[in-house]
Amino acid sequence: MQSTVIAPSILSANFAKLGEEVDNVLRAGADWVHFDVMDNHYVPNLTIGPLVCEALRNHGVTAPIDVHLMVEPVDRIVPDFAKAGATMISFHPEASRHVHRTVQLIKSHGCQAGLVLNPATPVEALDYVLEELDMVLLMSVNPGFGGQAFIASALDKLRVVRERIDNSGRKIRLEIDGGVKPDNIAEIAAAGADTFVAGSAIFGQPDYADVVKRMKDAVAA
Ligand code: DX5
Ligand code: ZN
Repeated sequence: MQSTVIAPSILSANFAKLGEEVDNVLRAGADWVHFDVMDNHYVPNLTIGPLVCEALRNHGVTAPIDVHLMVEPVDRIVPDFAKAGATMISFHPEASRHVHRTVQLIKSHGCQAGLVLNPATPVEALDYVLEELDMVLLMSVNPGFGGQAFIASALDKLRVVRERIDNSGRKIRLEIDGGVKPDNIAEIAAAGADTFVAGSAIFGQPDYADVVKRMKDAVAA
């Protein structure tokens, strides 16, 4: 199992002062920045693109930027995000015609590659491509919005994917995204996740350090 990573989703941050928000959450002990990209086509919401990623890098953010693409098509935006400073780029198989090719494209631009499974996407979407991945991202809400409730069936799915990753013998992160809170993170970790996205649970609170600590303590317990 890999080290625990807390990746706050800036979707729930105050966009009017994004640089400050990211500085604060990293200072509070967060490990990565989770960067949700929505196109009002693959998902019914519209957010931010490579310009904002680059702006965070220019602002001085050195932490890994975990780009979660909810866009269709995927391939033409990959080079722009690599250039803008993305560390890892994850995408949904439904949004790419050639999943294996998109994984190679991401890696050829020097980024780590992740595949995202929606709540109803079968684990078989990982067949023949798992060994090429740096990360599997399991959605525990339907993509498009922050602040939704954790879908309980994600726990069984985590256990299945954890086993597949362990059997592969490779260092592949297992990230969970949607409805993660201090009070459910322990059972999510027990089911096999090592990387935790949390948006509303962190940015909705006045003291980011307190929430991040409570999450890390719950995983470690
Ligand atoms: C949803 C996004 C999530 C979202 C998580 O499409 O991928 O990253 O911001 O938000 P919370 O933690 O509030 O469920
Ligand atoms: Zn996300």
